[in-house]
Amino acid sequence: MGKGTWFILIYQKPFNKEIKNNEIQKGGVIVKILVTGGAGFIGSHVVELLLQDEHETIIVDNFSTGKKDVVPSQAKLVEMDINSPKMEKVFALEKPDVVIHLAAQVDVGTSIQNPVYDADQNILGTIRLLNYCKKYKVKKIIFSSSCAVYGETEDSSISESYPLKPLSFYGLSKYTSEMYIQLFKDLHEVPFTILRYANIYGPRQSSEGEGSVISIFFRKILVGEAPVIYGNGEQTRDFVYVKDIALATLMAINKGTNEIFNIGGNTKTSINELLANIASIASVQITPISMPAREGDIQHSRLNSTKAETFLGWQPSYDLLTGLSDTFNYYEAIMQSK
Ligand SMILES: NC(=O)c1ccc[n+]([C@@H]2O[C@H](COP(=O)([O-])OP(=O)(O)OC[C@H]3O[C@@H](n4cnc5c(N)ncnc54)[C@H](O)[C@@H]3O)[C@@H](O)[C@H]2O)c1
Repeated sequence: MGKGTWFILIYQKPFNKEIKNNEIQKGGVIVKILVTGGAGFIGSHVVELLLQDEHETIIVDNFSTGKKDVVPSQAKLVEMDINSPKMEKVFALEKPDVVIHLAAQVDVGTSIQNPVYDADQNILGTIRLLNYCKKYKVKKIIFSSSCAVYGETEDSSISESYPLKPLSFYGLSKYTSEMYIQLFKDLHEVPFTILRYANIYGPRQSSEGEGSVISIFFRKILVGEAPVIYGNGEQTRDFVYVKDIALATLMAINKGTNEIFNIGGNTKTSINELLANIASIASVQITPISMPAREGDIQHSRLNSTKAETFLGWQPSYDLLTGLSDTFNYYEAIMQSK
């Protein structure tokens, strides 16, 4: 019996899970899952779903951008850098079934200013984890890649086979990690699922990092400051609500093995349109500050996720206005509590 077959046998129950309104119903087989970067924006939502589904969840985070107050008490927390040699002890002790690898240097600008640091965190960090996955026979690594691997694309929806030509070292570090992951599978039989996330937004997003424009706009507006638009504002993005992303990540635990998926909404919203929507939700008039376009910024990004729909059974359930309203309520509540 091949490794993949065995994995499916021990983890077959969640195949039959009923998914309603983005909530996986309880009753799945309990699997031990190690989440790197579990105290971050996306990680905290992934961990919430894992616990809801009663998985044994271990978070490894160095809190470089993550926050302790988002870590639920039911999750085991290991405060550690993924590059620490002590990580091996975590694998030896916990023997996770699945690793969801979200920890990363996530800022495109930082990657351009400091490519060595970016590569150290994102490429070498991933290779170190892959070595432990091999040694401790992890049954799958789920990797958070990015639409940044494509670089500049046509102004249309692109599928996974689109040529990869990153415009930033961040995109290159994700691309390189993808290549290592695929070769680890070929040479050392470490199964994987690679998820290329679109631009994500939602509660708990910081103002730094990839795709943080919505968080920056809300924070500015709520303190009465004008947001900045880089370039002419006609650049377009495919925004996906974080709860949809967390669900796609969970669905990859037992489906889509050794495959790469775009996880996007197949939508295109310009930054000007986005700001108009945000102004309307927040009931304010906004005159943005114009700044020149930034190095490494992509003009258009829109992901076709048909493959994820077919293999994972995933599609986004939040439209932009619903997700933006939820996000606005979150930031407003935080401001009011201060
Ligand atoms: N936010 C987006 O729009 C987006 C889009 C595509 C891909 N991604 C990817 O998704 C993943 C999560 O991104 P996010 O937006 O939640 O960012 P985030 O900064 O909120 O989360 C990253 C987490 O990893 C932790 N971390 C970073 N380096 C670490 C290290 N060396 N050791 C241990 N922990 C470390 C941070 O403390 C943080 O908790 C990243 O890999 C990112 O590249 C994000």
